[in-house]
Amino acid sequence: MKQTILVTGGTGFIGSHTTVELINAGYNVVIIDNLSNSNADVVDGIEKITGVRPVFEKVDCLDYPALEGVFQKYPAISGIIHFAASKAVGESVEKPLLYYRNNLNSLINLLELMPKYDVKGIIFSSSCTVYGQPDPENLPVTEQAPIKVAESPYGNTKQICEEIIRDNARAGAPYKAILLRYFNPIGAHPTAIIGELPNGVPANLIPYLTQTAIGIRKELSVFGDDYSTPDGSCIRDFIYVVDLAKAHVAAMKRILDGGQEEPVDVFNVGTGHGESVLGLIKTFEEATGVKLPYKVVGRRAGDIEQVWGNVDKANKVLGWKAEATLAEALSSAWKWQQELRRRGIM
Ligand code: WQD
Repeated sequence: MKQTILVTGGTGFIGSHTTVELINAGYNVVIIDNLSNSNADVVDGIEKITGVRPVFEKVDCLDYPALEGVFQKYPAISGIIHFAASKAVGESVEKPLLYYRNNLNSLINLLELMPKYDVKGIIFSSSCTVYGQPDPENLPVTEQAPIKVAESPYGNTKQICEEIIRDNARAGAPYKAILLRYFNPIGAHPTAIIGELPNGVPANLIPYLTQTAIGIRKELSVFGDDYSTPDGSCIRDFIYVVDLAKAHVAAMKRILDGGQEEPVDVFNVGTGHGESVLGLIKTFEEATGVKLPYKVVGRRAGDIEQVWGNVDKANKVLGWKAEATLAEALSSAWKWQQELRRRGIM
């Protein structure tokens, strides 16, 4: 029988791509989303790609009665993938209470409801931000690297949520949990039917870059070329969103098939390779044939100089590996930007 997975934040960037991969892998999906940073049309896109329409309920995870109503309506839910959260680093500094309330209470509500409705497992969207700037000898960073004091309330919510999941398991909660620490997710579905749709001026590199390439922005500012890296720009581990989505399917399968002994396990999800911002621009230009106007400006406050992941554990234990090249991921982001123009959205 098909298993049913609740995907919170399922109309968002990573949630929508994960829903597609879950459906492709034979799961039933129930999406909930409050649509605060996404659009219900995404459900049409998922149906177009997979031929299956996932259930969608407009529900806010902070609304406990409404959330409980979802478990009552869909009693077959056996696993949760919890994406729904506020995620803008800068905004979290300005509105910390919003971030703590939203990100912590949503998780607590789900964890409280899980045993009552016999939900076996939860996958939590964590972030490599928990490592801060790893010491040079700890690069590529493994799951054992020390957790550093968070640089922002957003980052702190990720750390605290990890602790909440662990403490609750220690207290005997009858679930299995997997914490996935994402590096920098980029790109869009190869069909260009779904992708990333940031509100307003993008803060993240790839949407700013593709908006510059298509002429919405005049030029990309590269934040610093005086770091202690080979070309002076920051280094990140850019992971293709479809590969990231597939890591969730592998993790959910591990939980539901009884393959995980530990109550809580943690995995880095990246490519295992670092690329610099300037290197990425070059790869984008080569892959798309588009010349990208950019200028080097000062460093961005709070930026980490370099981080990339050791992903051996996910490779071995989950049997998962990032497949796409950076050029392929960037080409998909460019195709998506052109599709947004075609649809008259941007
Ligand atoms: C990448 C690199 C910038 C924009 C953050 C969060 C993380 C995450 C993703 C969730 C950096 C440089 C960027 C620009 C630039 N989570 N850059 N010009 O900061 O690595 O990670 O977003 O949603 O938790 O911390 O990602 O895409 O902002 O930056 O030069 O216009 O690109 O300095 O080196 P970051 P990013």
